[in-house]
Amino acid sequence: MSKKRRSAAWYGKADKDGFIHRSWMKAQGFPDEAFDGRPIVGICNTWSELTPCNSGLRDLAQHVKNGVWAAGGFPVEFPAMSLGETQMRPTPMLFRNLLAMEVEESIRGNPIDAVVLLGGCDKTTPGQLMGACSVGLPTLVVSSGPMLNGRFRGRAIGSGTDVWRFSEAVRAGTMSPAEFAAAERCMSRSRGTCMTMGTASTMACVVEAMGMALPGNGTIPAVDARRQELAFASGRRAVAMADDGPTPAEVLSPAAFRNAIRTVAAIGGSTNAVLHLLAIAGRVGVPLTLDDWEAGGRDVPLLVDLMPAGRFLMEELHHAGGLPAVLAELDCIEGDALTVAGTPLSASIAAAECFDREVVRPASDPLLADAGLRILRGNLAPDGAVIKPAAATPALLQHTGRAVVFTSIEDFKARIDDPDLDVDADSVLVLRGCGPRGYPGMPEVGNMALPGKLVKRGITDMVRVSDARMSGTAFGTVVLHVAPESAVGGPLALVRDGDRVTLDVAEGRLMVDVSEQELDRRRSMWMEPSPRHDRGWGRLYVTTVQQADRGVDCDFLVGASGDVVTRESH
Ligand code: FES
Repeated sequence: MSKKRRSAAWYGKADKDGFIHRSWMKAQGFPDEAFDGRPIVGICNTWSELTPCNSGLRDLAQHVKNGVWAAGGFPVEFPAMSLGETQMRPTPMLFRNLLAMEVEESIRGNPIDAVVLLGGCDKTTPGQLMGACSVGLPTLVVSSGPMLNGRFRGRAIGSGTDVWRFSEAVRAGTMSPAEFAAAERCMSRSRGTCMTMGTASTMACVVEAMGMALPGNGTIPAVDARRQELAFASGRRAVAMADDGPTPAEVLSPAAFRNAIRTVAAIGGSTNAVLHLLAIAGRVGVPLTLDDWEAGGRDVPLLVDLMPAGRFLMEELHHAGGLPAVLAELDCIEGDALTVAGTPLSASIAAAECFDREVVRPASDPLLADAGLRILRGNLAPDGAVIKPAAATPALLQHTGRAVVFTSIEDFKARIDDPDLDVDADSVLVLRGCGPRGYPGMPEVGNMALPGKLVKRGITDMVRVSDARMSGTAFGTVVLHVAPESAVGGPLALVRDGDRVTLDVAEGRLMVDVSEQELDRRRSMWMEPSPRHDRGWGRLYVTTVQQADRGVDCDFLVGASGDVVTRESH
């Protein structure tokens, strides 16, 4: 006799409503036994040909379904908006919260007892997880998995990271346009997410470290049969979770977030993780702040030698032992945190082995002793800004230079290669108008290209400051997520050409050398830009989106709605 489940409110009734719910589902060929009270596992799929990184998810969904059937459940796959990082304009981040809202309502409104989230490309993982957390049904994540290594002219090349390198080489005249075109078809050799430690791989590893996915999720390549096995096992596990949990709120404890922050440091993960974890925490009611990032990442060593901070790619990380091999080196990981496997995180760490110490360094011989993302504050970022020291030039981590200000990304593109631009290698490039509300959607343009005339002189890095994000595959001495953003009147809006800007990462400071009196004078003349969207989702977004220090979630989506829906349509 099966336990009465949430889905029984749809299929467990003998009346007209039960007839309607079952009969239309049977149109798809599902047998009577599918409606006998067994657990129903929703498979939320962000497969799309416009999200190439998620193009393997249609096949992977079948393996999840096989696992659900094998365990005595009933799998139902449903689509969710897909956010293709390389295709979508103006930026997929504008739609992360819309995906979250769609996932939340799709789960809430349907006869589902547990959920498997199929995502991968950067915003799909956090968007799905945010929505599922707001419902609270037992949930686990299966990621697309990373692509195979790119290879060009005998050497490995990495998604994103080598695009930035190659495009700068073309601008410097050290790579021909023909070579650049040839590299294009060598970079993406298989389906899957970027195989550098970009945002997708960071988030896939983070959900594993937080216990929201089974071991292996972070690193098994997309086209490796072991990912299909993982999908099968996840389907099986979801059936058990439908009755016994755990729920996301039980897994995503404060300890899980602390483990995630340490993991991001140890793997050299993306700065985007800051925004996504703040937003996910808001959905489960964990009071995570930028101060937790600062404290949690302190003294955590960089152990993984992957691009963009290092040399290797995700395939090598998996062969080296995957994420458990990394976590096993960290004595700061809280192993008693619960995972979706129903066991503590320490169980997967205990089974870890490392097979390549070049890729996963021992804690006694790290690539960097203190690799945590750093939070900066000061009169240029009263509510905080973020920098990734592991991807920066050490000599620039303490730097003062005069500001060269660009008022928008269009202004930047129009002037950056102007031979008459008044800029030198010590200048600080300041870009505004790229925050959550101002752009809107906070695009990945913070790692702005260097002035053409300096690139030709061999300059490879400069301090850059903006209210934008940067791709997790990018590198450089780049200060991001300045809050409040310029479009709401943050101090970034008040900086002028020639102001002296100081970055001091050791002290956690970001300052503009302008008196408070003068800043007040400039503020009194500042005019709020008119919003760029006057209808639809864009309008809802710009009127409700919170700043970077709050994870860029919409204010009305923070928190949970729960899984109870009492009214029905017939
Ligand atoms: Fe989709 Fe990198 S562009 S994972």
